[in-house]
Amino acid sequence: MKAVKIGICGLGTVGAGTFNLLSSNCEIINAHANREIEVTLVGARRDNPVCDLSDTAVVRDIFAVANSDVDIVVELIGGIDVAKNLVLTAIANGKHVVTANKALIAEYGNEIFAAARKQGVQVAYEAAVAGGIPIIKNLREGLAANKIEWLAGIINGTGNFILTEMRDKGRDFAEVLAEAQALGYAEADPAFDVEGIDAAHKLVILAALAFGMPMRFDAVYTEGITGIEPVDVVYAEELGYRIKHLGIARRREAGVELRVHPTLVPENCLIAQVDGVMNAVMVKGDAVGSTLYYGAGAGAGPTASAVVADIIDVSRSLGVGAERAIPHYGFVDDVVADLPILDINEAETACYLRASVLDQPGVLLVIAQIMSNHAISIEAIIQKPPDVGEEHVPLIMLTNQTSEKNLRGAIADIERLDTVKGPLVHIRVEALDT
Ligand code: HSE
Repeated sequence: MKAVKIGICGLGTVGAGTFNLLSSNCEIINAHANREIEVTLVGARRDNPVCDLSDTAVVRDIFAVANSDVDIVVELIGGIDVAKNLVLTAIANGKHVVTANKALIAEYGNEIFAAARKQGVQVAYEAAVAGGIPIIKNLREGLAANKIEWLAGIINGTGNFILTEMRDKGRDFAEVLAEAQALGYAEADPAFDVEGIDAAHKLVILAALAFGMPMRFDAVYTEGITGIEPVDVVYAEELGYRIKHLGIARRREAGVELRVHPTLVPENCLIAQVDGVMNAVMVKGDAVGSTLYYGAGAGAGPTASAVVADIIDVSRSLGVGAERAIPHYGFVDDVVADLPILDINEAETACYLRASVLDQPGVLLVIAQIMSNHAISIEAIIQKPPDVGEEHVPLIMLTNQTSEKNLRGAIADIERLDTVKGPLVHIRVEALDT
């Protein structure tokens, strides 16, 4: 059997990690692929000192890789415009594609998969979500017998690292972000991490696989972690919760909830224990129940592990015919369901609220009445004594499950009270137990 020719585009952390892993573990990789896998061409603007290319051919123009005689183009350049052009060129030339590019798949996956289907080639993207955790393969293969009810994941390591350091060491947001950048986890534009965009990209991909729907990046409700104040981390702990930045996709009768936001999760829930830069994804299937997948979400080794697993999969299935290959979505590509995405107002969650209220008789009564007017039940309440010289006190409430619409109505009414100072802090709560 002929060797499979691989062309790697991009020689940054992941590109170099992929090249090195293909070389260091070549025996086991070839054995799993049942044929020899050979990197015959690398396209990179510059060399990478951690990577000894020896006599592998190198071109500075990555498009030369897409136009070469390789069987699989491995896109590891990141970004969107050039990467999209490169991938579509490779597909048009009949190449299979392996990519780690979450933004590209989340925003242009539908177009890319359609082109791939037409050409009868595969596009594999395990490394696009949660780095080394084989969550794509789990959803597409291991859980294929289930109706997926929901999934919830810590899918941005930088955000998780920041929240962990704030909680454990009371550290400053900007300082921790700088450390995540130095560790090589943060995106080129760290707003992607802290504003939740990176997590939204990954959630869209997971939801497409879980529910057999197109990529709907346009429809994700997204909140980042920039509004999280240390005091809320402390009150959450007092109530028995930890704040995690979650991507949540839930199948409801009327459609799918797709949302990314800071979330209080019970501290005894396993996902609450996932700290630092680590990632974890919970998936609830109707047959299997709740499952949890944990691992490193970025870095050379973990991401290369996922990229190479895809190279092996595609290599092993070369020649079987497109209809026998693993589909791009969780379901056979031609029966993808265009499910409605529910507006955030239709989401149902419990909620943590913090208000700054005047310390005087009757204030609590009025607020409790407003909650009741909006059919919201209060589960727990904490009121702290005022600081010296301060006439306002923090009032923290945990509600029972309610609709976002009810909650927003109550918040608006409470914020209108003269006895309440400034906007309320509002963090959703997920028990993740049903
Ligand atoms: N910036 C991402 C993170 C890298 O922090 O998780 C992996 O996609």
